[in-house]
Amino acid sequence: MDKLKTAKERFAALLNGQLARVERMRNEMDFLDYKSLEQIIIGVAGGDGIGPAITAQAKGIIQALLKNDIEKGRVLIKDINGLTIENRAAVGKAIPDDVLAELKTCHVILKGPTTTPQAGSPWPNVESANVAMRKELDLFANVRPVRVPEKGIDWTFFRENTEGAYAVGSMGFEVDEDLAVDFTITTTQGTERIARAAFDYAAANGKTRVTAVTKANIIKTTDGKFLRICRDIAKEYPCITLDEWYIDIMTAKLVDEKRRTQFQVFVLPNLYGDILTDEAAEFQGGVGTAGSANIGKRYAMFEAIHGSAPRMVEEGRAEYADPSSIIRAAAMLLSHIGYTREAAELSRAMDECAAEKKIEVTGREDGASSEEWAEYIISKLR
Ligand code: IPM
Ligand code: MG
Repeated sequence: MDKLKTAKERFAALLNGQLARVERMRNEMDFLDYKSLEQIIIGVAGGDGIGPAITAQAKGIIQALLKNDIEKGRVLIKDINGLTIENRAAVGKAIPDDVLAELKTCHVILKGPTTTPQAGSPWPNVESANVAMRKELDLFANVRPVRVPEKGIDWTFFRENTEGAYAVGSMGFEVDEDLAVDFTITTTQGTERIARAAFDYAAANGKTRVTAVTKANIIKTTDGKFLRICRDIAKEYPCITLDEWYIDIMTAKLVDEKRRTQFQVFVLPNLYGDILTDEAAEFQGGVGTAGSANIGKRYAMFEAIHGSAPRMVEEGRAEYADPSSIIRAAAMLLSHIGYTREAAELSRAMDECAAEKKIEVTGREDGASSEEWAEYIISKLR
């Protein structure tokens, strides 16, 4: 009987936390208008492993592009140190308090990869810094573009980033030695805001179709609610068609060359978004080629999709790491805060370098260093 009592208490604590979150979302502000700010503060957190080396290159490019506005004080770039696995392990927190306080003084953040300890690693089991930052700063929309023009692929994923299986991912428990439970969360507010973000993006970019991906036939309550709300929001956008797919068949359709070119914008719960965006990035050349935007109403964070590559550091190759993914993230950051011309110019310069290949990054001494690659990109900026 005791075990049921303990289980009920834990479940109640979990629900209380989520009810409080719903209350916060009910009162949340509208999107921050960057144009209205006298000064935009960009935080740069290098993270772990190859993170500091590649992030420094992306920062250098932002500085080159925004030189005038930095001089005028319209933009301030702030280095945020201390988001390292050593510090996080020492205080036993996903994000140390002082680092979190610093992050909160910024409007947008460029973040290098951070190490997520796995079972069996020498690090204590602190929560992923990524997941913690998404929650702490309420970065509810994970926007991941994937483009392969020669194959007709032009997709933008709107992955819900604060709910689903991730909301209480570390609060599951073992009821007894034979029974373990985890929980997944869907809220009205959380679903409405991600669905609106996807439809607004579609409307603003001339897209005609938004595809909702769930497993609502099986996960009836939470995925069912997600889908129902997507249908409600779709009614506000008569020029855009909502189509509905289940996650299993969707993973198959992404490799169907005839079908996949019809998809444009996707909206999906957290875990399906995690999985499907890795599959999608693979068509573009792998997770190392994609940037990722984590957008909330007050804050936004931009990151590389790949990890911290500790082996490259151990082997003394950190300076040869490919900075492309974090530079793509920097372009998304620039566009998000209103520097759309600079963002487009950066993307164009990157494509030009990738096509011209005067030098190449190989991850080793025989190739260009991250710094040389960044200088190559800067040399192409107009
Ligand atoms: C991602 C990553 C993260 C996630 C990990 C690093 C916690 O896979 O950004 O997709 O699961 O969301
Ligand atoms: Mg992932």
